[in-house]
Amino acid sequence: LGNGLAKTPQMGWNSWNFFACDINEKVIRETADALVSTGLAKLGYIYVNIDDCWSEPVRDLKGQLVTDSKTFPSGIKALADYVHSKGLKLGIYSDAGAFTCQVRPGSLFHEKDEANLFASWGVDYLKYDNCFNLGIDPEKRYPPMRDALNATGRTIFYSLCEWGVHDPALWAGKVGNSWRTTDDINDSWASMTTIADLNDKWAAYAGPGGWNDPDMLEVGNGGMTYEEYRAHFSIWALMKAPLLIGCDVRNMTAETYEIISNEEVIAVNQDPLGVQGRKVYSYGTDSCYQVWAGPLSGQRLAVVLWNRGSKPATIVVGWAALGLQSSIRVSVRDLWKHEYVLENAVASFSTRVDAHACEMYVFTPSTVTHSSS
Ligand code: DGJ
Repeated sequence: LGNGLAKTPQMGWNSWNFFACDINEKVIRETADALVSTGLAKLGYIYVNIDDCWSEPVRDLKGQLVTDSKTFPSGIKALADYVHSKGLKLGIYSDAGAFTCQVRPGSLFHEKDEANLFASWGVDYLKYDNCFNLGIDPEKRYPPMRDALNATGRTIFYSLCEWGVHDPALWAGKVGNSWRTTDDINDSWASMTTIADLNDKWAAYAGPGGWNDPDMLEVGNGGMTYEEYRAHFSIWALMKAPLLIGCDVRNMTAETYEIISNEEVIAVNQDPLGVQGRKVYSYGTDSCYQVWAGPLSGQRLAVVLWNRGSKPATIVVGWAALGLQSSIRVSVRDLWKHEYVLENAVASFSTRVDAHACEMYVFTPSTVTHSSS
């Protein structure tokens, strides 16, 4: 793809999960304001992404896409200027088919015109959906937009939203900066856990420049408990998923803010090594006690102990499962408590984890091995 973007997973906000089609320029401007005033922008949430429903249902007489004049009367260029004035970036949405999922005009066979239009508006990001695709192979529909975006001369993040149909991880690394690995998330524990497992399968294909996308965050939308949302955020961070906030950031609770603003968890997501953490093993009834982990820069490891069962339990992780010699001493930092909970741990670590909760750590192995004599 070679646009130099996505060295780490993209961070920002998207309108769909909370607002669906009920969007307008005021919501987008106020969201940009809120990202700055809450400090979320400083933490890295810089993309303000408009999803489906921003355009009129039909093209104009010249065949151009037209912005909805009732909901976005000032136009997208003015919005992009506003978002840029806040130090943020603007994302837009279209579809690699005849229509978007909400039946606005799609960009299939209009790639050059649309890419030029988006670039002329100052757009920084395109999410490209998969509805009404006329049964044409995605490997024929997605590359033309990549080429058209690259040809504009503007650097535009290219997010493929092909819902995991035709295993995009296998081919999309050359096409986009991220690719959806699954169908849409919804604001429930069942959806979130299912999607985490589906996305895990493709871990080997993610890396700097192109990431698996298990869909946007539901944190703050009300369908899960505090513990469940914390697990959702921890696992998405560990999996190097895009961190795209999906709630109304103008009206967040303190709990929602605490979760999505956790700098230590964000640092795992944005670690320069760029290796997707994986489910290392699971045990217990329905495999509900789970250890997820992955390497970080500086020979450190990110480790999540996740209790997907309905009762509190002690979860244990042994060094062997993490690829460490059992004699290695490890300092264990708790990323939710924000403190070192153990120095010189040897062979294994265990902790009590509440139902549907997780704990998240950075393990720093000491270079000095423990003498066994
Ligand atoms: C399907 C996508 O997967 C969603 O994220 C959202 O963009 C909707 N389409 C919009 O219609």
